[in-house]
Amino acid sequence: MSSALMQNYGTRELKFERGEGSYLFTKDGERYLDFGMGIAVNSLGHCNPKLIDALTDQAKRLWHTSNLYNIESGEQLASKLVASTFADRVFFCNSGTEAIECGFKAIRRYFYSKGQTQKNRIVSMSGAFHGRSLAAIASAANPVHTEGFLVGDSGFDQAEFGNFESLLSVVTEKTAGIIIEPVQGEGGIRVAELEYLKKIRDLCDSHNILLMLDEVQCGIARTGSLYAYQQLGINPDILATAKGLGGGFPIGACLATEEVAAALVAGTHGSTFGGNPLATAVSNAVLDTLNDADFLNNVSELGNYLKAELTILIERYPRLLTEVRGLGLMLGLYCQTDAGRLIARLQEQKLLVVKAGGNSIRLLPALNVSKEEIDSAVKIISKVLADIENNQN
Ligand SMILES: Cc1ncc(COP(=O)(O)O)c(C=O)c1O
Repeated sequence: MSSALMQNYGTRELKFERGEGSYLFTKDGERYLDFGMGIAVNSLGHCNPKLIDALTDQAKRLWHTSNLYNIESGEQLASKLVASTFADRVFFCNSGTEAIECGFKAIRRYFYSKGQTQKNRIVSMSGAFHGRSLAAIASAANPVHTEGFLVGDSGFDQAEFGNFESLLSVVTEKTAGIIIEPVQGEGGIRVAELEYLKKIRDLCDSHNILLMLDEVQCGIARTGSLYAYQQLGINPDILATAKGLGGGFPIGACLATEEVAAALVAGTHGSTFGGNPLATAVSNAVLDTLNDADFLNNVSELGNYLKAELTILIERYPRLLTEVRGLGLMLGLYCQTDAGRLIARLQEQKLLVVKAGGNSIRLLPALNVSKEEIDSAVKIISKVLADIENNQN
């Protein structure tokens, strides 16, 4: 069958008609347990009734006005984000990439507005993923993503993730910002260590550098705190968030301190759709549900439970698996066997997971997943591993 779509995603056979909680259903009524959740997007599962209510209530009243006018649900959402984080100000957009772009622009404009125009370079980390815009691919510098796209020096430098000495070696008086994912996602689930992050924060403070966190994937309760930085002992100056923020409705946000946000004066940045009534109505409902101590504790507990179950599988199948990494319900299972093949086998058994770097698979279930659903997923993984070990493939 020919498709009118650009072929940038390659071929995709599987398609779904309906979703409910942790499950997706095909037209033929086949049921898949979804432990990918649209790559960490459907934070409260598929078609969550609270989110349907929020969306349909809003849809009956007002869809879009543009940022020429004040948007009440956007004001509310921004206030909630400010009340729950380091931030004083919020900019709304429609994706993670746009949240990153806003952060990068804020960094440059901050020093520009102080007359320090030479301070304009941004350091990113190896294994990072910040999106697919030109600035985002230039910053992450992954050759698979940059090939054929970049012209000249885009103003980014790279340090090795987790290696503070490497960071020191690239920071100069021109460094304006450092961007890091507290828990890397696409590059393979890698958690930045507390001491390392503290050193980065100190370096930023002593060298007049802005610290920007990319929590597009690890934010919004995924790791058991609203944002991962909140359990890693540092405060950023800027934070990019998206994915789970809308629970499946597209929205992103760039959070910043007052001092940084002040650089983005009227006219310096904007978005037609950013913070529109539909997106912010849904996102308010997402935040009201998951920004709750009991909900967050439950994410941590379920995450620890899943991690412990996966650790048992690693002990049982040391020739196929090596380790499990991550925080909360953002877990990476590192494989000796081919991760792509394992994912295909899990899909045959109706379990959906996502590939990540370093020959790993990512488990990103809904944050309100049940213990029974975790048990079902572990059972499927265990069966597939047993089949592979016994060469029944
Ligand atoms: C850490 C991180 N940053 C940025 C992005 C880009 O987000 P989006 O695809 O919504 O533009 C992603 C997407 O996977 C991500 O994982």
